[in-house]
Amino acid sequence: KILILDFGSQVTQLIARRIREQSVYCEIHPYNMGLEKIKAFAPQGIILSGGPSSVYDAEAPHSDAGVYELGVPVLGICYGMQLMTSQLGGKVERSDKREFGRAAMNIDDTTDLFSGLAGKEEVWMSHGDKIEQMPKGFCAIAHTDNTPAAAMKDEKRRLYAVQFHPEVVHTPKGAEILGNFVFTVCGCQPIWTMANFIETEIASIRERVGKGKVICALSGGVDSSVVAVLLHKAIGDQLQCIFVNNGLLRKGEAEKVVNLFTRHFKINLDYVEASDRFLDKLKGITDPEQKRKIIGNEFIFLFEDESKKLGEVEWLAQGTLYPDVIESVSTKGPSAVIKSHHNVGGLPDRMKMKLIEPVRELFKDEVRLLGKELGLPDEVIHRQPFPGPGLAIRCIGEISADRLEILRESDAIVLDEIRKAGLYREIWQSFAVLLPVRSVGVMGDARTYDYTIALRAVNSLDGMTADWVKLPYEVMGSISSRIINEVKGVNRVVYDISQKPPATIEWE
Ligand code: XMP
Repeated sequence: KILILDFGSQVTQLIARRIREQSVYCEIHPYNMGLEKIKAFAPQGIILSGGPSSVYDAEAPHSDAGVYELGVPVLGICYGMQLMTSQLGGKVERSDKREFGRAAMNIDDTTDLFSGLAGKEEVWMSHGDKIEQMPKGFCAIAHTDNTPAAAMKDEKRRLYAVQFHPEVVHTPKGAEILGNFVFTVCGCQPIWTMANFIETEIASIRERVGKGKVICALSGGVDSSVVAVLLHKAIGDQLQCIFVNNGLLRKGEAEKVVNLFTRHFKINLDYVEASDRFLDKLKGITDPEQKRKIIGNEFIFLFEDESKKLGEVEWLAQGTLYPDVIESVSTKGPSAVIKSHHNVGGLPDRMKMKLIEPVRELFKDEVRLLGKELGLPDEVIHRQPFPGPGLAIRCIGEISADRLEILRESDAIVLDEIRKAGLYREIWQSFAVLLPVRSVGVMGDARTYDYTIALRAVNSLDGMTADWVKLPYEVMGSISSRIINEVKGVNRVVYDISQKPPATIEWE
């Protein structure tokens, strides 16, 4: 396994993903991880990430220089290279020519780190400082026009460093370079597979849980579904799932979840029909944050109530993913609350239960692979994200059974047409939003005064930023005419062409 020390680069997570994609396990830890802890982790190699600082800043993050003495190969990336240089007695200086973006790099040594590469490769640079003098024992193994030491190594001590970012897609051969480091230099084996993960995780779940009972809130989404099936494989009937129908789900969703988990997987599922309860609480509410809070609180209340009926339950299962638990330097710091997210986050404290999070070491794409390995259908594995508060935050203005029905039918048409066009898996999210705006139309000979549906389709890598999808006109056309013809109460469809930021993906 590989240890990645994070110095705050925006793309540190990508290093981990590029390595895990090659079936090698790795973890990200903050740069100041203690040497004893590093030794206990027993990495086969260490990667120092990039970061926004300059090594000579007073507050520049420094890792323990002992990492170079462990006898373990080290790869410094960008800031990591500069830190390695300054810690080992070389010299780093502000460059008068900042290098940012694509650069052509000449490779001077294709033996280890760059083995299998051509003499010239495109790489992604993003640095203001440069290596003025390499530390003793190092030689340059690549250069660009602006940077004489674009990569360097000390083969004896197995220390390597690159000024560019091999983890981003703009470095086309980046994955191969990282692969060379972990396989050729560190001697890792490609044994991190989902089949192995299932085996070890099942053993560890059994050991932790013993004869105890576990409850799991199923949402129908990828993460909770994978967690439920994995737990069921490990502890069978000791697992009890709870599925709350809040009346804010998409068309046919509740039936699908019940069918899949009870009929197919034979998992104990407590189905809670609470549509009326939620609708009742939401009556007259138009404020987005209030909607979110009401739905979140109501869910917790119901979940707590249901679980009490199940007797003594010790464990609560959650679909926490690796990006949520990485203590990374870049995601620290205060940020404004844009929307309060409704997840099961508040539950464990309130219910005094122990948490079990079987996928907390995995990235989303790994959870999908795991789901496939566990036999979950593609429909679940590749489901587009759907927010916890459901259709409530896509029904702008007051929520009523009638307005929800209009939205639900419109949404089903959107997804149907997107699927038919073969675009469902290419798009991050595609959905309908019901606006409180009515406008005049004409149907046959009669005047109509009906609602407007906004169509939203976005692409995104992680939900943090997003761009609207350039949907083919024919697809937009068939969505629009089907909604207007088939859904009573809608006479106009518009397309949302806003990016995130400054807009958000959901309207509320
Ligand atoms: P926004 O609207 O903030 O959404 O751009 C970013 C992503 O998060 C999803 N989303 C939620 N997911 N609980 C969730 O589990 C929530 O309360 C929630 N609100 C938004 C949204 O669908 C998008 O993918």
